[in-house]
Amino acid sequence: MTSARGIQNLALIGFMGTGKSCVGRIAAQALHFTFLDTDQVIEAWAGKTIADIFQLEGEPAFREWERRIVEDLSHRKKTVIATGGGLPANEANLASLKTHSFVVCLWASPETIYERVRGHSHRPLLNETDPLAKIRDLLVVREPYYRQADALVNTERRNLREVAAQVMHQFHLAQVVHR
Ligand code: S3P
Repeated sequence: MTSARGIQNLALIGFMGTGKSCVGRIAAQALHFTFLDTDQVIEAWAGKTIADIFQLEGEPAFREWERRIVEDLSHRKKTVIATGGGLPANEANLASLKTHSFVVCLWASPETIYERVRGHSHRPLLNETDPLAKIRDLLVVREPYYRQADALVNTERRNLREVAAQVMHQFHLAQVVHR
């Protein structure tokens, strides 16, 4: 099914706290690819932090930034793209990523995610009285999108290097299959 796809890039999707940025940096270095973090690009384009975009302009404005960056990504080659956790929870964004990237989803349970993100205040969606409940609710909505990735890599009980090795293994396999 994917044989007609051009796999130019490697995209990492998954919930907050699954290690997309850290794993992406390791993979980019190993593959000699450029690393791009969609949140960082949005902050540079908007001239403000993600937290400020949410607070001053609201979540819909942030999702519009994500839509714009997804459009821009279609010109990319040899790039490891770490996306914000909510970016692929949108059919058009996910379909666009898949036209040029092998898409890997990093997975973790709600409890593990909670342990990893607690105490961090830069994620506006989790500034809630019950962040674990919010994580569970968001995961229910997002799981059907995350499951459309080309590969799913479990990040539980694996360090970042082990996760990166799994991701690259899947990426290399895809290139053999689609060559
Ligand atoms: C979000 C995840 C964040 C960031 C924003 C919204 C989400 O990125 O894009 O706070 O909707 O899940 P990380 O997944 O890199 O934390």
